[in-house]
Amino acid sequence: MGKFRSVLAAGMLLPALFVFTQKPASADEGMWLPSLIGERIDDMQEKGFRLGAEDIYSINQASLKDAVVLFGRGCTGEIISPEGLLLTNHHCGYAQIQKHSSVEHDYLRDGFWAMTRDEELPNEGLTVSFLERMDDVTGRILEGCTQSMTERQRDSVIKANSEIIIGEATAGGKGLRATVEAMYYGNQYFLFLYREYSDIRLVGAPPSSIGKFGGDTDNWIWPRHTGDFSIFRIYADKENNPAPYSPDNVPYSPRKFFRISLDGVHDGDFTFIYGFPGSTREYIMSEEVRYISEISDPMKIALRTQRLGIQKKYMDMSQDIRIRYSSKNANVANAWKKWQGESGGIRRLGTVRAKQEYERRFSEWAEGTEYENVISSLDSLYGELEPYKYASECYAESTGTVELCNFAWKIAGMAASAYEDTSGKSQFPAELAKAARDFYQDYYLPVDRESFVSVMNSFARDMDGKSEPEYFRECIARYGSVENWADSLFHNSIFTDSTTVLSLEAADTAVVRKDPAFAFAAGFRKWHDSEILPACRRLDGEIRLMYRKYMRGQMEFEPERDFYPDANLTLRVAYGKVCGYSPANGILYEPVSTLEGIMEKDNPEIYDYNIPQRLRDIHAGKDYGRWAVTDANGNSTVPVCFLATNHTSGGNSGSPVINADGNLIGINFDRVWEGTMSDIVFDPDYCRNISLDIRYVLFIIDKVAGAGHLLDEMVLVE
Ligand code: ARG
Ligand code: ASP
Repeated sequence: MGKFRSVLAAGMLLPALFVFTQKPASADEGMWLPSLIGERIDDMQEKGFRLGAEDIYSINQASLKDAVVLFGRGCTGEIISPEGLLLTNHHCGYAQIQKHSSVEHDYLRDGFWAMTRDEELPNEGLTVSFLERMDDVTGRILEGCTQSMTERQRDSVIKANSEIIIGEATAGGKGLRATVEAMYYGNQYFLFLYREYSDIRLVGAPPSSIGKFGGDTDNWIWPRHTGDFSIFRIYADKENNPAPYSPDNVPYSPRKFFRISLDGVHDGDFTFIYGFPGSTREYIMSEEVRYISEISDPMKIALRTQRLGIQKKYMDMSQDIRIRYSSKNANVANAWKKWQGESGGIRRLGTVRAKQEYERRFSEWAEGTEYENVISSLDSLYGELEPYKYASECYAESTGTVELCNFAWKIAGMAASAYEDTSGKSQFPAELAKAARDFYQDYYLPVDRESFVSVMNSFARDMDGKSEPEYFRECIARYGSVENWADSLFHNSIFTDSTTVLSLEAADTAVVRKDPAFAFAAGFRKWHDSEILPACRRLDGEIRLMYRKYMRGQMEFEPERDFYPDANLTLRVAYGKVCGYSPANGILYEPVSTLEGIMEKDNPEIYDYNIPQRLRDIHAGKDYGRWAVTDANGNSTVPVCFLATNHTSGGNSGSPVINADGNLIGINFDRVWEGTMSDIVFDPDYCRNISLDIRYVLFIIDKVAGAGHLLDEMVLVE
């Protein structure tokens, strides 16, 4: 054993002697509230964690929470230096990297590295938020609520109470922002107080051939080899407070930053993820699961398959179009694949039937209690909701995706606030120019036009015999076909021409409102907002109310079970261990990948797999320096990604992956697609999160980017 230990210490990745554990000893399901982590700490320590609850979350001393940020409005980031250096994913910084890119400076393709602080690039609109503290405010929030209130009345009491609490919490602090969030369907409420920084600069990003290596082919897939990271720096005023961008701002000095472990990752190691999962629905009833997996997901997947095919065709034709559509395309493709794993996983697990069985037992137990009718009420509410929900989702995924029409709608909104300048000339607000710039920079009409034809033909099919909008019927009658409709719309709309749009004056408001692209957006919106949305809102409200009761009922029904609140983009802790899985009979996935896998996939003919020549050279010369490890076959290589059983969700991207000593070992960026139903039901056999090994990040910075000066800011521990 002594010898075995020393091999491990030398950095062996997957010791051949190690027994491959396929199933975790116990399920690692759960995303826990950090302020209540004391309730889980015994379990965490039993599984290997060596720190205490106060190290994770504390309001009295610096704790790990002070090194974790909400990045933008949907990702996580972590602080890794005393000078405000921040790590997140490449795909989280993607929009910023793209904004700074052009055909001449294609940072998406070539990467970007600021070699001095002066070269770091500011990003308008980007913020990061630190959680100052979180408090249970249930008592105060529910003050004035009564049993007999409708959901609407209750909402307005809660809103008023929230405003008071938020006002108090944010009074007199620079950059303070607060929200009150409902947990367990409004059975509990928490105040979250954040300090939000808005001068965030881009420091570095690898080329997409590293940061998005494998592209959408590998997205949600194991084995994975994506170097999905980017680096930013937070700037503050001289007092270390949040301040808008200014050249006078200085690097932010954090209360806490992560030390980086170079010890590596081994099968079975304890891991812990700290981040902002966006949304899960673990406690919904069978009817909703059935709708999602059998109706909604398949419809949305089919519509996106069409749009993705069209985008790909044009993106393959030119670099310019590829840049324009790269971010949009990635977004469309991402959920498209996730839904495939979600509906497949739910089918495989038989979740609908399992939930029906659970509901049967629940109802039996609930006889004669206040929960007696919960299931039957939910059942009939869902029956009523389904046609509306379907129409609404169909609308969002088809008519709602026509870019030109969405733009026209936006400009028409601005027309409403057109004004006269000092010389009496009527003006559109200044945002017009910005909106137009943003739109045309990323627009290519033939893509939009072809998508229009495709999704509108589907809309006709999907909504046939259902509540089809009047406007749709009129247009089909007028033009005879979707194709003719598209010809006319894209030919006659003024919005296809940027010069015309930029010279719009207030007097042109009528022109805008007569435009066919605007008419399209308005026609469908009118139908949706008057015939679909009100019913959705009303029924959603009633369902929410019923879930509040059902949630309480489930807790009473299963007093032994540990319930965690659904994700709602608030800070959570998930813990588990490094672990592979078996995606199908006869296949066993190892939990770590290495540079060798990148070389296997390398293909100069395929954009997403065409790695930088520099990386090929480094591999050929095995010039890995201090980042070298020895793999199971005794070869020298570099670790790249690893799998673990942590329960994560969208929003956990960029989250720090932490070892038993509280040091950083990786950056979370994805899950395996066979496990994406974890937003609804967690399966310990299939649900795995995918992280980037921190040593690969350091290797890229040091060896490929030649930005080793950044490493000098970090604290590396061995
Ligand atoms: N699947 C990951 C997540 O949900 C990564 C997304 C990156 N985008 C992409 N289309 N590859 O966000
Ligand atoms: N890739 C996701 C994100 O961007 C993470 C996930 O869904 O697992 O947050």
